[in-house]
Amino acid sequence: MAKILVVTSGKGGVGKTTSSAAIGTGLALRGHKTVIVDFDVGLRNLDLIMGCERRVVYDFVNVIQGDATLTQALIKDKRLENLYVLAASQTRDKDALTLEGVGKVIDELAQNFEFVICDSPAGIEKGAHLAMYFADEAIVVTNPEVSSVRDSDRMLGLLASKSRRAENGDEPIKEHLLLTRYNPERVVKGEMLGVEDVEEILSIRLLGVIPESQAVLKASNQGVPVILDDQSDAGQAYSDAVDRLLGKEVNHRFLDVKKQGFLQRLFGGRE
Ligand SMILES: Nc1ncnc2c1ncn2[C@@H]1O[C@H](COP(=O)(O)OP(=O)(O)O)[C@@H](O)[C@H]1O
Ligand SMILES: [Mg+2]
Repeated sequence: MAKILVVTSGKGGVGKTTSSAAIGTGLALRGHKTVIVDFDVGLRNLDLIMGCERRVVYDFVNVIQGDATLTQALIKDKRLENLYVLAASQTRDKDALTLEGVGKVIDELAQNFEFVICDSPAGIEKGAHLAMYFADEAIVVTNPEVSSVRDSDRMLGLLASKSRRAENGDEPIKEHLLLTRYNPERVVKGEMLGVEDVEEILSIRLLGVIPESQAVLKASNQGVPVILDDQSDAGQAYSDAVDRLLGKEVNHRFLDVKKQGFLQRLFGGRE
């Protein structure tokens, strides 16, 4: 059976698309046939981060409206055998995705893939509802800031009440916390919430902590999911998160302020 995973958050700009690309790629790297679906109608970010924007011919809305088959619309990754992307439409019509249409596409994908990753748009409106409705598991992306944590908490309420699983009275959606853009220096200074604070407020299982990192911007500018940069802290943190998602016990890294060497202290450290 395929696993349908939604990558969601209350707030925008917290790292959902970055995380969808990294985690989807990580699952494919480990041999799991994976598709990442961009639900952000009108924006189309995922294909840029995945580096396949020039190969988008048909998109999610075309499939729902019957203008293309899934086979025509799925974009195969050039780097990995098991990885596919379904791009979002650039239409301005936010109603182009319907519950029935999305359900059909998700069910068809579920027959052909091991993991279906739904990259949710921001907010708690229709697009975000459609992205999470069919999910088996949710990765709730949160930044260590009060407003982001508050919005994630609201999203947890929706996951528990407004999903297919909740409506059918099935096992609830399994929730994972992914704390992104974590900056230990700012936590020490009291400018950001610490991991323990966020865990305590949301009380869901911690899937991973992704450090604030220059590598993320560099990777997305190059159209390479940051998890493929295995020298980077963010890439390694995503890699650990994927292992945990697959049930491995892996210690958390990058939680503490980096100890600087003598020369770095003298001349100022680089990221
Ligand atoms: N760990 C990180 N370190 C630094 N910048 C990040 C990190 N994660 C995401 N970003 C940046 O934050 C911005 C929003 O990320 P994105 O994944 O598009 O968020 P969302 O999909 O939630 O709107 C992007 O500019 C991205 O490069
Ligand atoms: Mg996004």
